[in-house]
Amino acid sequence: MPDLVRRLRDHGQERLADALDGLEGPARARLAAQVQALDLGQIQGLVRDLVLGGGGEAAPGELGPAEVVRLPRTDADRDRERRAREAGEEALREGAVAAVLLAGGQGTRLGFAAPKGMFPFAPVSGRTLFAQHAASVEAVRARYGCDLPWYLMTSPQNDEDTREFLADCGSFGLPPDSVQPFVQGTMPAVDLRTGDILREAPDRLALSPDGHGGLLAALRRHGLLDEMRSRGIRVIYTFQVDNPLVRVARPELIGHHLLGGAQMSSVVVAKTGPSERMGVVATVDGRTAVVEYSDLPDELAEAREPDGGLRYWAGSIAVHCIDLAFAERLTGGGLALPFHRAVKKVRHVDDSGSVVDPAEPNAVKFETFIFDALPLAERTVTVEAERGEEFSPIKNAEGADSPASAARDVAARAARWLAAAGVAVPRDPDGAPLHPVEIDPRLALDPGELAERVPPGLVIGGPTILGPERLPRG
Ligand code: UD1
Repeated sequence: MPDLVRRLRDHGQERLADALDGLEGPARARLAAQVQALDLGQIQGLVRDLVLGGGGEAAPGELGPAEVVRLPRTDADRDRERRAREAGEEALREGAVAAVLLAGGQGTRLGFAAPKGMFPFAPVSGRTLFAQHAASVEAVRARYGCDLPWYLMTSPQNDEDTREFLADCGSFGLPPDSVQPFVQGTMPAVDLRTGDILREAPDRLALSPDGHGGLLAALRRHGLLDEMRSRGIRVIYTFQVDNPLVRVARPELIGHHLLGGAQMSSVVVAKTGPSERMGVVATVDGRTAVVEYSDLPDELAEAREPDGGLRYWAGSIAVHCIDLAFAERLTGGGLALPFHRAVKKVRHVDDSGSVVDPAEPNAVKFETFIFDALPLAERTVTVEAERGEEFSPIKNAEGADSPASAARDVAARAARWLAAAGVAVPRDPDGAPLHPVEIDPRLALDPGELAERVPPGLVIGGPTILGPERLPRG
């Protein structure tokens, strides 16, 4: 134990060393175990570079627009899209794809205390985000007759609640060995002015999730990369918990990724305007990267091409295909994702053990981002999707990217698919559907499938759920 106290002092953590030294018995053992698990050399470097150094991250390199596979417009485009779909479908049928949901975030902006996946987003049924994603997984499994394992990344903060919810819901009817929650790593929060590691209780560090970039390391730590390899997985398809419109394991993206020989691929939609809070896929010093909205200077966010379009229009919806071999290489040592700093309010105890509830941001959290693997890839593919078909995240309690905007977009997509299937959709004078409709992914994953399966003579006379129970028998 004196050894551990000395190591803390050697790494500039005098206060934590004193705190540990001042504890006795089980409390001392508890804190010591947490300290033991820290990489003190790494934290010292991060404090030096991202906290005491004034917080400046490495200067951004030379920026350019990304090369994007645009939405199909010509016959040649449609032909390429068809080939991509076929290649993706083949990979799905072979069972070469794993779906990985990022659900370790804390969802503070939404103000929903439970894991975000438990948020009841659906306008008619009130179904949760987890249930929606599970239904998509089930639908893909049924459509391609494949095993599509579903991995869910949680954090220590929401792991237990998530597992309990999955158990209560019987894993939504999916085979239990195909639904696999795993917990991501954590990093300690440090004092914004001094770099001291904070404690949330006298015998407990203030730990928070290490960012979604912790995904690959967590997969390796839990033996899941090996498991994927033995299952014959080649493509890891990642998506975020907050997007009810997300297409899980969309074959076209998988196909573009495979045919392009990419190690990592991304999906983008056109940003609604320069100030939309999305990361943009761009090139930095000639390599593909996501530049976060907070790192994109206004004059670049507003830069226009001669045709008037935004130069950096390609907003990342945080859906990626990652080649399993690339994930293995990244986590095999040598290649590390950079840490970013997030300045936050963190409740903690002071030297005397009293709780401090800060009114202003007082701490730095360290996070890595999965998209920072893009510049490390030799080849990447970026594919455009239609926003209304695939993206309407729930991030804020109100306004843009809120439960209300998502409910509107879910209903608007359903109305479009119904209209395309020849069903009359009553609309208000502004053209918005009069009644919300939900289409269960197990009934239809796309408009074509809906057209084949829509119940004959369907009339939309009020809020409607079109679920798998409407599937034709047999
Ligand atoms: C994110 C992207 C942004 C993108 C936008 C699209 C980042 C930093 N930015 O913004 O480029 O345009 O989504 O919606 O990701 N998560 C974890 N563990 C963590 C942290 C987050 O699993 O430690 C998960 C969350 O549960 C969530 C997702 O990652 O599913 C995104 O995290 P969030 O912090 O909400 O990112 P945004 O700022 O919304």
